[in-house]
Amino acid sequence: MSSTAVVGIGELVTCDGTGPDLLGVRSNAALVIEDGIIAWMGPAADVPSADTEIDLDGRVIIPGFVDSHSHLVFAGDRGAEFVARMTGQPYDGGGIGVTVAATRDASDEELTRLLASRIDELQTLGTTTIEIKSGYGLTVADEVRALQIARQFTAETTFLGAHVIPAEYAQDRAGYVDLVTGPMLQAAAQYARWIDVFCEPHSPHAFDAQEARAVLSAGADAGLGLRVHGNQLGHGPGVQLAVELGAATVDHCTYLDDEDVDALAAVAESTVATLLPGVEFCTRSPYPDAARLLSAGVAIALATDCNPGTCYSSSMPWVISLAVREMGLTPAQALYAATAGSAKSLRRSDIGRLTIGNRADLSVLDAPSYLHLAYRPGVPIARAVNLTASGETPEE
Ligand code: NIG
Ligand code: FE
Repeated sequence: MSSTAVVGIGELVTCDGTGPDLLGVRSNAALVIEDGIIAWMGPAADVPSADTEIDLDGRVIIPGFVDSHSHLVFAGDRGAEFVARMTGQPYDGGGIGVTVAATRDASDEELTRLLASRIDELQTLGTTTIEIKSGYGLTVADEVRALQIARQFTAETTFLGAHVIPAEYAQDRAGYVDLVTGPMLQAAAQYARWIDVFCEPHSPHAFDAQEARAVLSAGADAGLGLRVHGNQLGHGPGVQLAVELGAATVDHCTYLDDEDVDALAAVAESTVATLLPGVEFCTRSPYPDAARLLSAGVAIALATDCNPGTCYSSSMPWVISLAVREMGLTPAQALYAATAGSAKSLRRSDIGRLTIGNRADLSVLDAPSYLHLAYRPGVPIARAVNLTASGETPEE
């Protein structure tokens, strides 16, 4: 057993759900971590002795960000598509096929190397837990491959065979849904914890309500938890389907009517609305009204949706500043949604909040207060700290 005391903490933000802003902020606090678990938390004056001591010199500790929505297993580049978005060309999901072709062509080694560098990048930005979807393979072998590669980096893997109808099935949508719900799911399920579907009648490439229901029901029968891409490009059936089928989360939620908001509020204990403001930024789309969701009692999360088409950023601090500037959240609400809220969307209580017995998934902010996450947009003040192995110290 090895223990590390963390002292000199300027502000300890636990996100433990206490206090008016749920952040459970403590001042003059210290932590002791034993074998990767938070073993003690209390006044700095009472800190017990430990094998090693880390002095943060007044910096802030927050729970590591939980990025509950990403598509990081891909090859190729769609920078030109981003430029088209900036000049007003709307997104319809058609570019996904470009990434599918490049990803199918890439070797296992190349995909693994690309993913490893993206994981490094998000850790240097303060993220300690990442969900990764497949969805750029769209054959049985390529979807299984993507999940196997993702599994090397995270337990939170999601089978997204129903990302779009691939070109070779353009004339046979039903045949592709049969493939996804049959042999593809059967081969992929062992490598995935979740199943997801791009339920979007506004895209000719994505799936309608009936198709999405078939995909989600088959996934549930195979023992997978449910996640849904819904209501991204216009009002659609995704939210109602997610609520009806007991999904852990419905992501995007850009276009919601009052019935959707009421339905989400009624299941706030079990279904989260995950907002992805980086997508609205990178596709020049209107932002969802997060303040409306919170005041209705909806449980919300924030994530990046890092992917080559609609948001090629893995920066949770940037997402927080967008949520504050563009979606009406306070800095406290945004930080909570990016940690405990996002953990809830993964049905995890061992991450996203710092409590005794929880994992020591921490991030350090080079700042005097968590407010700086929103106050200093684009400045790399957050970084993940790995204290899970013996004696590891924060990188300087
Ligand atoms: O979440 N909407 C579907 N999937 C991604 C975009 C994927 C892509 O364009 O490559 C999203 O926005
Ligand atoms: Fe996505």
